[in-house]
This record gives sequence, structure tokens and C-alpha cells, in this order.
Amino acid sequence: MKVRKAVIPAAGLGTRFLPATKAMAKEMLPIVDKPTIQFIVEEALKSGIEDILIVTGKAKRSIEDHFDANLELETNLKEKHKDELLKLVEETTDINLHFVRQKHPLGLGHAVLQAKAFVGNEPFVVMLGDDLMEDDVPLTKQLMLDYENTHASTIAVMEVPEEETHKYGIINPGEEVAKGLYNVKNFVEKPKPGEAPSNLAIIGRYLLTPEIFSVLEEQEPGAGGEIQLTDAIDTLNKTQRVFAHDFKGTRYDVGDKFGFMKTSIEYGLKHPEVQENLKEYIIQLGQKLATEQASTSKEEEIELS
Ligand code: G1P
Repeated sequence: MKVRKAVIPAAGLGTRFLPATKAMAKEMLPIVDKPTIQFIVEEALKSGIEDILIVTGKAKRSIEDHFDANLELETNLKEKHKDELLKLVEETTDINLHFVRQKHPLGLGHAVLQAKAFVGNEPFVVMLGDDLMEDDVPLTKQLMLDYENTHASTIAVMEVPEEETHKYGIINPGEEVAKGLYNVKNFVEKPKPGEAPSNLAIIGRYLLTPEIFSVLEEQEPGAGGEIQLTDAIDTLNKTQRVFAHDFKGTRYDVGDKFGFMKTSIEYGLKHPEVQENLKEYIIQLGQKLATEQASTSKEEEIELS
């Protein structure tokens, strides 16, 4: 069966970005000039997804507004002949988007369970907003291509440094059945330091069979007291094969402040409007910081002698 539907969980409280996210959805924080969630929606569309469900929570109305038509703004841009801007605004409105609310923040697994009626009895993808992916073929499309061969759930993973495994769902890879495709033995959500079965981490793109929903309905809370998607996938893996796809492209983590800032700089360096100025600024700033660093080291040397 063809994969046509995507679910984007966007109900998290965004506490890592407080106070910015007190009244605003973290998914609306822009990288240069585009909300992070729009990058995710664009990846879905480029992959051939036809219908998208966004699972929202409190303070998320701005996401719905962002993908809605804004006639006042459009008329204004038309009158002023700002055609380029008008195009950008119109691009966000002609998409098959649906919304459902997760009423209680009980975890990622619980957020995905809210998509049960929307998904029905079809394979579907889950796309997390904290990871922006870049590759020649979009990662979601790569998973869909795997599915054409395996007809099984396939989860995107990527190598992470060993000291970071506790932040992720980690796989015990099992047999490599094709290049970069593992028939996974088991999945562990946020393993304690030293207990991770590998350094292959789940990175926010999942292709799942609909059987995941009956597992999620029975799923007990796991790490952090939350209903974890990883735990449900581990249970699913006991009744049907689940594969992991080792992603070789670039991943930008916009889920915390430092990752968000790095992504903003890297995307800025590719943005036609600001790239030149930004590059010049970074070079100058680098020189200034290097000079400061050198003089601090000198002062410390003098103090020591
Ligand atoms: C979630 C998942 C985790 C995955 C991660 C990827 O964790 O539970 O398995 O590795 O996303 O970003 P979170 O970052 O929401 O704590």
C-alpha cells in the first residue's frame, strides 16, 4: 500500500525556549525567515505525502493561522505589487493540512495515538519538528522507498557520539539486510550512560505500520514518566519486523538553543538575501574573538609566571 499520510507532533511545551514559547508555539520560531514547522511540511510534500496531520496542544493556534489564507495580507501585497512576498505567503496555504489537539501532554507516543482516526489502516510517517534534514533525496522519501521493498516499519537512525546516547532512542541494530538497512533487534528509549546497545540514535523520522496504534493504546509510561513511541515500536518489533535506516545526510537539531543558533547561522549562509553580509560579519567576529582569546591567554601566562 502506498504511503500517503504524515503526522507531525507539535504539542510539546517548548520549555527549552522559554520565555519565547510562553504564548507562542516553538514550531513557529523561524530559521532566518521560515518557521521550523514549514521546513518539515515542505519535506513531506517533496517526498510525495498527500495529507498531513499536525498534533497540536496549548498555545499552538499560530501554527493553524500560519497555514491558513490571510486575505488582508494578500490584498495588501497585491496592491503594492510585492509579487515575491505574495508568492511566499500563498505557498503556505494550498496544502492538505489537518489538526487535532493532544489534550494532555502525556508523551510522544500519546501524541501519535491522537492520529489513529486520521491514519486509519494505512502505513504512515511521523516527522518530528526538532530535526531538520538535508540530503539529495528527502529522508522521508528514503524511508518510503525502503517500504516499497520491505512493507515494514522503518525508523531513521544516525550515529551520535557515545556520550549523547542518553538523549535519544537507541537501536540494537541486528543484521544489516541491505546497505544501511538493519533488521533491528530491539529499541531502548534514553538508555542510561554506558547501557546503550549502540550509538545509532533515532532521529525524528519514522515510517510505521498502522498496527502501532493498538500497541500505543496499551503502552505504559516509560522514560520520564511519558508514553514513549520508542517503547511501542519495541513491542511492535516482537510481532512484525521493524527496520532501521542509517541516514547519511545532514541533520540540524533545532530542539535546543545552541542547535537552533547553529542552524540559523548555517541557513543564513545559504540565504541569498543575507549570506554575503553574514559571512563578512562572521569573519570579522572570528578575528575579534581570536584577538581577545589571545590577549586573555597572555594575561593568564603573565599571572602564572
Ligand atoms: C524523541 C524520541 C527519541 C528520539 C528523539 C529524536 O525524544 O523520544 O527516541 O531519539 O525524539 O529527536 P525527545 O527529543 O522528544 O526527548
